[in-house]
This record gives sequence, structure tokens and C-alpha cells, in this order.
Amino acid sequence: MIKVGILTASDKGHKGEREDKSGKVIQERVAEIDGEVVEYLVLPDEREVISSALIRMADELHLDLVLTTGGTGFSPRDITPEATKDIIERETPGIPEAIRAESMKITNRAMLSRAAAGIRGKTLIINMPGSPKAVNEALDIILPALGHGIEILK
Ligand code: MTE
Repeated sequence: MIKVGILTASDKGHKGEREDKSGKVIQERVAEIDGEVVEYLVLPDEREVISSALIRMADELHLDLVLTTGGTGFSPRDITPEATKDIIERETPGIPEAIRAESMKITNRAMLSRAAAGIRGKTLIINMPGSPKAVNEALDIILPALGHGIEILK
């Protein structure tokens, strides 16, 4: 069993003005890697709010994997990669590189995602873009390799 956290970064989602379809996609699909969702947060696009939540999910909840969605683009409020890089101890650049490279075969807008990923303690944190379509595509790319990565981390 892999303990999973989901963090959706969305001002509108946090205010209840938009349904968090992307978080629900992640929630459904983590079953593919024997994942159990322990924490699921919809937070505003605020650097400190996101980084504090990531710290808590790693240091207190001891989750194996945290998947974030949203806030990776160019809009002025997009801040998820910065909030993630603030608190990771080791970068795992191969994961966002793979997501962007494979996603470029689907849409050239894949290059517009600034997503990051890395390890804090024994927790792997991965940013994904915000749309449900992008999340499904990113999960297709990363899920088959994640089990092995998480195994090594333990
Ligand atoms: N990656 C995949 N696989 N599929 C997509 O549709 N959309 C792109 C990109 N990555 C997309 C994708 C677009 S249009 C943007 S603006 C960026 O992700 C950033 O998205 P975000 O701001 O919602 O995080």
C-alpha cells in the first residue's frame, strides 16, 4: 500500500467556485499503484500555504507520494513549482522532464508547464498541470515507473 496525498492548487477550487475534477482523477487513478489517499487538499495559489501543507504531508503524515495539480503555468498566480522547490531536499528532474517530453507528442503547450518534483525525507512530491486532461496524460506517463521509485525511497 502506498500512502498518497493530493494537493490541488486553485484559487477558484478553494473558494468553491470550481469543482476539483483533476483532484478526483488522481483520487480514482492511484488505485493503479495500490495507492490509498490519506490526505486531499484544495488550496489557494499561495506559496506559503502550499509549502506548509507539503511539509506537513511529508514530515507529519509521512506520506509516500504527494501529487499536486495546478499552478504550474505562466499566469501571475501560478506558484506551485516554487512552493515545491522551497521544501524539497533533492530534486527529481527526470519526472517532470518525462511528463513534458511525452506530453509534447500530444500538445506543444506541454512546454508551458513549469512543474517540478523532488524528495523530502521519504516523500516523493510531483507537480502536474491543472486540467483533468493534462492530469490523465501525466499519470499515464508516470504511474508505471512510480512503484519502483517509491520502493527505493523506503
Ligand atoms: N500537459 C499535458 N500532458 N496535457 C495538456 O493538455 N496543458 C498545458 C501544460 N501541460 C497540458 C500539459 C498547458 S495549456 C499549460 S498552460 C500548462 O500545462 C500549465 O498548466 P497549469 O497552469 O494548469 O498548471
